[in-house]
Amino acid sequence: MSQATNQSWGGRFSEPTDAFVERFTASVNFDQRLAPQDIQGSIAHATMLARVGVLTDDERDAIINGLSEINGEIERGEFEWSVPLEDVHMNIEARLTDKIGITGKKLHTGRSRNDQVATDIRLFMRDAIDVIEAELVRLREGMIGLADREAETIMPGFTHLQTAQPVTFGHHLLAWQEMIARDHERLLDCRKRINVMPLGAAALAGTTYPIDRHVTAELLGFERPAENSLDAVSDRDFAIEFTSFASILLMHLSRMSEELVLWTSAQFDFIDLPDRFCTGSSIMPQKKNPDVPELVRGKTGRIYGHLMSLLTLMKSQPLAYNKDNQEDKEPLFDAVDTVRDCLKAFADMVPAIEPKKASMFEAARKGFSTATDLADYLVRKGVAFRDAHEIVGQSVAYGLKAEKDLSEMTLDELKQFSATIEQDVFEVLTLEGSVAARNHIGGTAPDQVRAAAQRARDALAAIKGEAQ
Ligand code: ARG
Repeated sequence: MSQATNQSWGGRFSEPTDAFVERFTASVNFDQRLAPQDIQGSIAHATMLARVGVLTDDERDAIINGLSEINGEIERGEFEWSVPLEDVHMNIEARLTDKIGITGKKLHTGRSRNDQVATDIRLFMRDAIDVIEAELVRLREGMIGLADREAETIMPGFTHLQTAQPVTFGHHLLAWQEMIARDHERLLDCRKRINVMPLGAAALAGTTYPIDRHVTAELLGFERPAENSLDAVSDRDFAIEFTSFASILLMHLSRMSEELVLWTSAQFDFIDLPDRFCTGSSIMPQKKNPDVPELVRGKTGRIYGHLMSLLTLMKSQPLAYNKDNQEDKEPLFDAVDTVRDCLKAFADMVPAIEPKKASMFEAARKGFSTATDLADYLVRKGVAFRDAHEIVGQSVAYGLKAEKDLSEMTLDELKQFSATIEQDVFEVLTLEGSVAARNHIGGTAPDQVRAAAQRARDALAAIKGEAQ
C-alpha cells in the first residue's frame, strides 16, 4: 500500500500529500451536498454495468444495498466525512468498500470522477430547478390573482419617477408578471441543456468497457447522453446559464422591491405590507421597515457576483477537465438557495400586498396625470397635437399657481386656454375616464387588465401542462 493518505490514487506517489495541500484541494466540506445525486448516479452506473456484463448481478446488488445504507447514514447525520478523502465521491466510495469489501472497489469501473461530478451537479441542478420553478409559478399566480382583484384600482403611472398618466394597479402588477414570465421561459430553456448526461465520458476520452450510455441516461431521467466526451466532462455552460437566469430574475425582483419600499413609505403611502413581512427599529418605536423587499434587493449583488465568478472560472480553460471546475459548486449552491428563498419571499408577500386605494387615487389626481388626455381631446376637436401640447402646458401652469388639478377647474377657467374646450371635456379629465379610454390590447383599461390576467393564467396553465 502506498504511503499517500489518499488510497484511491496514491499508487504512484512516494510521499504523502502536504497537510495544507490536502486541505486546500479538498472539496468535501461543500460538495457533500451532492451526496444524494452521487448515490443516485452510482446506482444507475452499477445497474448499467451489470446489464452489459461488467458486474455480476450479485456484485450489483451488494453495491446498491451498500449505497442505500450509506444514503441512510448521511440522511441521519451519522456519516463521518473525511477531508483526507478529498471529496464527496471518494468519501462515499471508501465507505462502500468498508461495508462490502472488494466489490465496492469495482463500482468505479468505466467511470472517472470527472464524468461523475459533472453528472452529479447536473442532477442537482435539475432537482433545484424544479423546486425553483414551483415557487416561480406560485409567484406568477399570486401576481395574476392580485392584478385581477385590482383591475379597477387607480394609481399614478410614472416616467422619470414623476407622475405621468393614471394607470390601474392591476396593470402595474401584470407588468411585473410579464418580467417573471420571461424568467420562467429562461429557466425552462436552461433546464433543457442541463438534462444531458456526461456519464460514460470517463476521464475525458470515454472508456474501453462495453458500456451502454442510453441505459444509464434512461435510468437517471436524462434526455440523452452527451455527444462528445471531452465536452461532457468540461462543459459548465449550464452553470453560467443558470446564474444568468438568476441575475435577470434578481434584477427584476430588485425593481419590484424598490417599488415596494417606495410605496410603503409615508411619502408615497400606496400600500401596506402585513406586519409579518416587516420588522421594527430598536430605537425608533414608530418604525415599520420593509426588510423583506430590501433584503431581496440586496441579494441581487451576490447573484451577479456568482455569474461573474463562473464566467471567469471558465474563461480560457483548455479541454478537458481541470481542477478549476471544482470552484463551480459554491457559487451555484448559493445561487440556488438565494433564488429559491427570494422567490419564496415574493410568492408569500405579493398576494398579501394591501393597496391603499384612496391614497393612490389622490396621488394620481394631484399630478396633472390627465394632461395627455386633455391634449388628445383637443386633437380630436381638430387642434394640431403640438398646439394642443402648448395649450395644456399653459393650463397646467395655471393649475400649479391656482393649486387646482385640471379636473377641478371650471369650464370658463379652461376656456381661457382654448375656445374649443366644451363641457364634455370633464369625461376625459377624470381618472376613471382616462384609464378606461386606453382600451386596446396591452392598455391599462380595467377590461383589458382582466382580459390580460385571463390570458396570463391560460399561458401559465399551458406551461404547466407541458411539464407534465
Ligand atoms: N472534487 C472534484 C470537482 O469537484 C471532482 C473531480 C476531481 N477530478 C480529478 N481528476 N481530480 O471537480
